[in-house]
Amino acid sequence: MLAGDYGPATKRAMEILVALGKIYAAEGLVPVASVQVAGVSYGNLGQAGLEFIQEWAEQGARVRVPTTLNPAGMDLEAWEQLGVPEEYAQCQLKIIDAYRVMGIVPSCSCTPYLVGNRPDLGQHIAWSESSAVSYANSVLGARTNREGGPSALAAAITGRTAKYGLHLEKNRQARHLVQVNCALESVADFGALGYIVGREVEDAIPYFRIDSPGKPGPEELKALGAAMAASGAVALYHIEGITPEANAHTVLADDAVPVIVEGLDEGYEALDGTAQEIDLVWIGCPHASLRELAQVAALLGGRPTRAKLWITTARAVLGEARIRGLVETIERSGGQVVADACLIGAPVQEMGLSTVATNSAKAAFYLHGHHHLEVRFGPLHRCVEAAVKGRWPG
Ligand code: F3S
Repeated sequence: MLAGDYGPATKRAMEILVALGKIYAAEGLVPVASVQVAGVSYGNLGQAGLEFIQEWAEQGARVRVPTTLNPAGMDLEAWEQLGVPEEYAQCQLKIIDAYRVMGIVPSCSCTPYLVGNRPDLGQHIAWSESSAVSYANSVLGARTNREGGPSALAAAITGRTAKYGLHLEKNRQARHLVQVNCALESVADFGALGYIVGREVEDAIPYFRIDSPGKPGPEELKALGAAMAASGAVALYHIEGITPEANAHTVLADDAVPVIVEGLDEGYEALDGTAQEIDLVWIGCPHASLRELAQVAALLGGRPTRAKLWITTARAVLGEARIRGLVETIERSGGQVVADACLIGAPVQEMGLSTVATNSAKAAFYLHGHHHLEVRFGPLHRCVEAAVKGRWPG
């Protein structure tokens, strides 16, 4: 591949992997079972990014392993209805086309593990999108580093990645022991916890002991990982009794630094602002599961909404939700289930949004930090109340 026997596109991909392998002193290359490619929204890529992907596709780049795509900056079908400018939309569609030419499934979701790209325990993969990386490593026990867009694409084209970092058993040990002594009652609570711990441990691996009744489900775990990957750069965490590798004898370092969390105020104070009027309520960061869509539908209870209510999800989940009548229930209240999209890469200012409420710590972190919007952050039931009243409740 490096010699160019497989064509210029594959040569270019292998050059990227070899360069990375040298930087990180990799043992060699390892075949990957799947790839998740980030770098999709036109808002993040811009014209230069669009041309880079088109050129690679025209050179003959084709993927060798199952490869899925991160969210775009808009719903690929209902963008007009959401107020996305025509010029942005056309460029976004060209990006998706170029990826499609390469053989990538245009799943446009940051929860590929909910829609068919679900690696097994111990499998090597090359994923980008920090929240998905965290879920794959921690909850599924697969092995991936936090790939960037180009390195993930290079792995997809060659079917391999450089073997270093989290691909190696010895690097999956936790060096922080996080003792959580407060109740965790919602997805937002797990997000607030993730925000606190991510800031504390930065890019290290935390090992959690959680003293709270009830077991976190997939929704809580994706919120926790997404928040730690946003406020820090955590790519792997262990939770005793929950995640597959969490065995204190094997993955907890003897000299682990203790971190004690007595409450979540620090997280809520950092992420929740003071705005009263709400333009938009955004649920689905990371993309909503079917269960979350059902919860929103139930909380709405048929009441009309005053603020916009968008729930972002994978198109396949939207399809399933439609079959179960959830989309219709949400739409009857005035909400919208938005496929393919992430608001962080969307042209939010041009869409006339200035205050957003969300139950996602990651969304709150970036909407404020990246888009400079006023953000309210709280549990799902408060967000749905905000959608109904057009004001943050309480
Ligand atoms: Fe997904 Fe965008 Fe949130 S990629 S995790 S919806 S910031």
